[in-house]
Amino acid sequence: MRRRARPLPATSVDPYARRLLKELLHIHQQVRQRLPLDALLQAVLESALRVVPNVQRGCILVRNDDVLEYRAAVGYDLVKLRQVCFPVEDIHAWHNQGRQDVVQGQDYLDWDTGHLHPDAVAILRDHGHLDEIHVSLITAIYVDEERYGNLVLDNLRTAQPFPPIAKRLAQAFADQVGATLSQALMVTRLEQAGQLLAEYERLAALGQLITGIMHEVNNPLTAIMGHAELLGEAYLTHAEAESLAQIANGALRIQGVVRSLLTFARQQHTHDQRVQLNDLVEQTLALIHYELTREQIAVHLDLAANLPLLVADPGQLNQVLLNLLLNARDAVVAQEQPRTISVQTRSSIAPGGEREVQLAVMDTGPGVDPLIARRIFEPFFTTKPQGRGTGLGLAICYGIIGAYNGRIWVEPAPGGGARFHVRLPSKPFEEAVAGVE
Ligand SMILES: Nc1ncnc2c1ncn2[C@@H]1O[C@H](COP(=O)(O)OP(=O)(O)OP(=O)(O)O)[C@@H](O)[C@H]1O
Ligand SMILES: [Mg+2]
Repeated sequence: MRRRARPLPATSVDPYARRLLKELLHIHQQVRQRLPLDALLQAVLESALRVVPNVQRGCILVRNDDVLEYRAAVGYDLVKLRQVCFPVEDIHAWHNQGRQDVVQGQDYLDWDTGHLHPDAVAILRDHGHLDEIHVSLITAIYVDEERYGNLVLDNLRTAQPFPPIAKRLAQAFADQVGATLSQALMVTRLEQAGQLLAEYERLAALGQLITGIMHEVNNPLTAIMGHAELLGEAYLTHAEAESLAQIANGALRIQGVVRSLLTFARQQHTHDQRVQLNDLVEQTLALIHYELTREQIAVHLDLAANLPLLVADPGQLNQVLLNLLLNARDAVVAQEQPRTISVQTRSSIAPGGEREVQLAVMDTGPGVDPLIARRIFEPFFTTKPQGRGTGLGLAICYGIIGAYNGRIWVEPAPGGGARFHVRLPSKPFEEAVAGVE
């Protein structure tokens, strides 16, 4: 049998509770209207002032990174007070010393004088009227279990302690502020997530754009390189040969950029085949031989005999080699003689028993500053002057080596330069093509 709830007699709701309910309803409506955060905080504070006994003035302070800021105030000049920030660490320490609840106006002044800049103390003295406060009730505002601010309610009339009901009500309002802040933070985080998504989409669109442009660049580039090669077979004067070499080098550099960008855009098709790393080293060095000679850079080769074959796209491994060698060239070019680049290959057995091929490119340059060593593989990280480096070289190397389940890292070379190491697993062709581990 269902029992009907008996309505409360109107007289049993005391006027004070009725006022309180009215205020809570008012706050609830404002929250639903999605007012700006500061307007909401101000509304909650004003409600608190209407309901909490023995309170004539108040403010709300909210955390912003590592400071606490004034966000709402009644009876204070908020614009002026906003110039004052309290270091969160100091405030926490203060609360932890047992000053959680109630403080006297004089206590505020003492603390501020000891912790804040004299200008901030002067603002608080002039616009916070701290000397008028007999006693303040400070209630912590929590967001996700973290202390996020304070609701401060001042009694300017007596130094009597606040009654227990005042503390309970203040707690209810502080909880309301916490809920409002939590909602606002959630909205901010959602907006940030939206921006991040837009950023990913932008990068994907950039990838497509790059692919389109690079295919357009690639065709004339191939023609330039082909004609340069043909011309190289003709009889040329020294000056002509030098100009031709410059054309070839320029074209090569563009080709490097085209490949880098295509790899960045992940649109390049890989053509895996059996390759001998030693051959690729020699081919790539041959491409930049002229440039290295001109800069009087010596190359030491220490290539292991019987190096196992790799299954890889030779174009991509050439690109790794070219990036490492060009970086080494850039590193030594400003150094005194002797300027040396050393390339070493080795075969080894990985801890899991798998055969692997190792490559080291070493130079006598200034080395990689340990402070930036963690960042050099990031895309667009460069220390080179604008127009000289795109910061894509090592990011591309990292991407390519990673795609072959290899590793690339940097260490200081014995003479103080940089030593880039690469390890690549050497698998039987069929296994590698089938992607069997
Ligand atoms: N051999 C090296 N010696 C010293 N620093 C190096 C060496 N190789 C790379 N670096 C550092 O790492 C940074 C990133 O290298 P990365 O190849 O990715 O870009 P970049 O050479 O600056 O530009 P890009 O290769 O796109 O032309 C360089 O700017 C440089 O500071
Ligand atoms: Mg580079």
